[in-house]
Amino acid sequence: MKTAVYPGSFDPVTLGHLDVLSRAAALFDRVFVCVMMNAGKNPMFTAQQRFEMLCAATNGLENVTAELWTGLLADYARSRDARWLVKGVRSATDFDDEFSMAQINRALDGELDTVLIPSRAGLMHISSTMAREMIKYSQPLELCMPQAAIQLMKGWNSDGKS
Ligand code: PNS
Repeated sequence: MKTAVYPGSFDPVTLGHLDVLSRAAALFDRVFVCVMMNAGKNPMFTAQQRFEMLCAATNGLENVTAELWTGLLADYARSRDARWLVKGVRSATDFDDEFSMAQINRALDGELDTVLIPSRAGLMHISSTMAREMIKYSQPLELCMPQAAIQLMKGWNSDGKS
């Protein structure tokens, strides 16, 4: 069975993430999409909230499992018997970053390869950074986030949880 891991901060999950994920799900038998910690980022949402949004957004994708992991990506991939990492790339800058990360992860586990999926033309401008700005300025989130994640977030706002 060909198993892949699609890791990310998902702060929050976007339509771009979902597009990359559904294309990865068509390439692999099984995909674990996982909220992880990026030491260089100070997230807007807690890891648990990011995980819940990811679960809501990916509900219904048959061969996809959403998880939350606070450790090393290479350890997580090994624990799931995954030999491939999936990353989305929107630009040459993304490519440079992901190319370096691919080398690091391969150095940590020689069995681990990285598959880069170029973002769809109509979704290239969408990022979690953009989604956070839209949230901050109360702009329509349908332009950048999956509906299920938006609904979940609205519930938190009315509960005062977020
Ligand atoms: O969406 P992001 O922020 O670009 O995702 C980056 C992420 C979370 C995949 C990366 O920071 C990561 O792999 N974090 C887990 C810890 C790890 O394995 N770091 C790389 C080797 S030191």
